[in-house]
Amino acid sequence: MAANGMTVDYQSEFDPEWYINTFYGSVLNEVSQSDQKTDNRLQFNLLQFNLEKYHEVFHSGIVKGGSLLDIGTGPSIHSIISACRHVDDVYLSDIAPQNRKVLTDWWKSDKLLIEKITEYVFGLEKSGQTVAEWQQTMKEKVRDVLSIDVTLVKPFGGGCDVTQFDIITSSLCLEAAAQTLDQYRSNAANVSSLLKSGGHLILNGVLGQSWYRVGEVKFACVSLTREDIESIFVSCGFEIQRFEIVKFKSKDNEYSNFQGYFFMYAVKR
Ligand SMILES: C[S@@+](CC[C@H](N)C(=O)[O-])C[C@H]1O[C@@H](n2cnc3c(N)ncnc32)[C@H](O)[C@@H]1O
Repeated sequence: MAANGMTVDYQSEFDPEWYINTFYGSVLNEVSQSDQKTDNRLQFNLLQFNLEKYHEVFHSGIVKGGSLLDIGTGPSIHSIISACRHVDDVYLSDIAPQNRKVLTDWWKSDKLLIEKITEYVFGLEKSGQTVAEWQQTMKEKVRDVLSIDVTLVKPFGGGCDVTQFDIITSSLCLEAAAQTLDQYRSNAANVSSLLKSGGHLILNGVLGQSWYRVGEVKFACVSLTREDIESIFVSCGFEIQRFEIVKFKSKDNEYSNFQGYFFMYAVKR
């Protein structure tokens, strides 16, 4: 536990069940039933934005390749729903063993995760498949669920045969794994080392957020501006192709103190 009463200990304190039920389950249900609860509406808007941007960038046909690594996947698979049709091999990864267990249990069984979200993406993809069929395709493309720590110069610590990927996606992870801009910068450099030259980076995250809540636990993270993110990735050798943000004026809400969110698509020189 950090001095400010917040934690950064994902391996012992991140509750995958609460996270997925709240942010990818009940928030959606409550928003669809009523527009009254602003905090849920903010979370819903963030999710919808991310799903639409992932759909757009993969649907464009520009981003495709043999291997895709999703970094900090957490207990959710939403970041690969659109991607899976455009790549051959998918690697999921997270620092927390309890998150990797949720992913592995899904991958190795007939279980479905985040059905409503998958259906939402179908609307964008104009797919006639069922959720079970689509998730089966996703499972068939997954090659591994890897242990990763983006704060390390060698994020896999030698535990992965593939050293560089064609595409990296990451949702809400790099800022969660940093307390300062210098740490964010080194996380970005460590992630960059896993991407082939000419490879695609698709990143989404939050702006101005110094904490967010999972159950009773508050996680501390680095507060970012658009300028911070752009300058750091340019200095890490990326050409930014797309950068989109949504900003709003908001007090701390029930779940976090974010002030906006962003989506970035960049290519490594
Ligand atoms: C806010 S959650 C995001 C999960 C999911 N990608 C999403 O979009 O909902 C942050 C994730 O980053 C992971 N994480 C935190 N620190 C990390 C690190 N140093 N290396 C890799 N993953 C980390 C956490 O375990 C957690 O799953």
